[in-house]
Amino acid sequence: MQVLVIGSGYVGLVAAACFAEAGHRVLGVDVDPRKIEALREGRSPIYEPGLDDLLTRHLASGSLRFGTDLKEGIALADAAFICVGTPQSEDGSADMKYVLAVAGELGEAMALRAPDAPPLVVVDKSTVPVGTAARVHAEIAARTSRAFEVVSNPEFLREGSALEDFLEPDRVVVGCRSDHAERVMKALYQPFLDRSGGVWFRMDPPSAELTKYAANAMLALRISFINEIANLAESVGADIDHVKAAIGADHRIGPAFLNPGPGFGGSCFPKDLQALLKVGREQGHPLMTLATTVEANRHQKQVLLRKVKEHFKVKPGVPAPLKGRRFALWGLAFKAHTDDIRESMALELIDGLLNLGAEVVAHDFAAMEAVKARIGSRIRYAATPLEACEGADALLIATEWPQYRQADLAAVGKVMKARKLFDGRNLFRPEAMEAGGWIYHSLGRRAVEGL
Ligand SMILES: NC(=O)c1ccc[n+]([C@@H]2O[C@H](COP(=O)([O-])OP(=O)(O)OC[C@H]3O[C@@H](n4cnc5c(N)ncnc54)[C@H](O)[C@@H]3O)[C@@H](O)[C@H]2O)c1
Repeated sequence: MQVLVIGSGYVGLVAAACFAEAGHRVLGVDVDPRKIEALREGRSPIYEPGLDDLLTRHLASGSLRFGTDLKEGIALADAAFICVGTPQSEDGSADMKYVLAVAGELGEAMALRAPDAPPLVVVDKSTVPVGTAARVHAEIAARTSRAFEVVSNPEFLREGSALEDFLEPDRVVVGCRSDHAERVMKALYQPFLDRSGGVWFRMDPPSAELTKYAANAMLALRISFINEIANLAESVGADIDHVKAAIGADHRIGPAFLNPGPGFGGSCFPKDLQALLKVGREQGHPLMTLATTVEANRHQKQVLLRKVKEHFKVKPGVPAPLKGRRFALWGLAFKAHTDDIRESMALELIDGLLNLGAEVVAHDFAAMEAVKARIGSRIRYAATPLEACEGADALLIATEWPQYRQADLAAVGKVMKARKLFDGRNLFRPEAMEAGGWIYHSLGRRAVEGL
């Protein structure tokens, strides 16, 4: 198959590389010429484990190319994937300007296809509100009489394990109206389903569009739920590790997504929830559970700062109450194994600490460049986790990089001013921290306050 992938961000790049891996011929397109230049040289503009290797191999074999103009690939394409961003608009809805602009470009470029070419399968892979397939169809149809069909094929990959998710999917969802479109999509995805034994779902486009939002909303809801139970566990003297293990053993519930954390962030959940809430309001079906999920998350994103303020006895109204205090911060990305800092809780934490007059020295395994570009020298950056802790009054953990779990805490404690750890990811057990002489605050377990 010949595939055009429009948008070379987290989703587009992974899709392009994986389709090339499956033996298809792929042209990846982006409007950002610097991205394309880097990609042509085999440098990935994003951090995603395994991606560099796939890019290098398939650039070398010639099955993967990159360019800035979708016209280069449209004549022979069997399918054109729209993978551009759908950020949040001011009113909460998904901003469709990039998707519709691509639809317009595709409509114009359709003239380059032979009149008897098979219908082009235009695929909405970006996360888009219900009804978008119809809007994209109208944009293209206004500009061409060549044959095409718009298909909804939402993406479920997780940053950090995106290649694995794409190459071995649990399921592939395809919202289409014709057998031709289904045949093309199956030819593209069958190698992945063969590997994973995943399920093929054919449905109508609106159902596919709603499936994506419903999946993200359900996952966000589980996170906010367990965070609230963890907060309650602390107050009543329960241990969330016991509670989550026991409820997760119920097959109706399952163990996934039951880890308490410092509030969800990232490029998807926050904006997708807002977009779904907006649709619900517009349709006269306000989604009350989701409104509460968003509210609970807003509260949770302050959880580490609240614990720090309480411990350091910060009183309201006192200017710069943490002046002279230095905080080491481990983790800047919104989760481990990515350099993505969109809606990262670490950024809110940094703001909160700086507003209280504190100094912050941060470390991350992939996201430091992104944070430097965003906030520059408002904080200091350390080359290693240990260096971040030198002279610190406390260590805060915001991202669950596995290397932090394996850190030599005895060595860390030696370079700090005081052995105090506020753990937003529950990487350690309170008993072990107590034995090591730490003051240790985590989520949903007893606090170790020291002597
Ligand atoms: N990131 C994720 O984990 C994830 C997972 C599932 C679904 N999604 C959805 O996929 C979509 C893309 O997300 P992303 O994280 O890859 O975004 P991104 O911001 O990383 O990438 C989007 C890319 O599209 C490019 N672009 C914009 N307009 C263009 C145009 N007219 N022609 C060509 N390229 C253009 C941008 O330059 C950018 O490189 C969003 O709708 C998102 O909600 C993302």
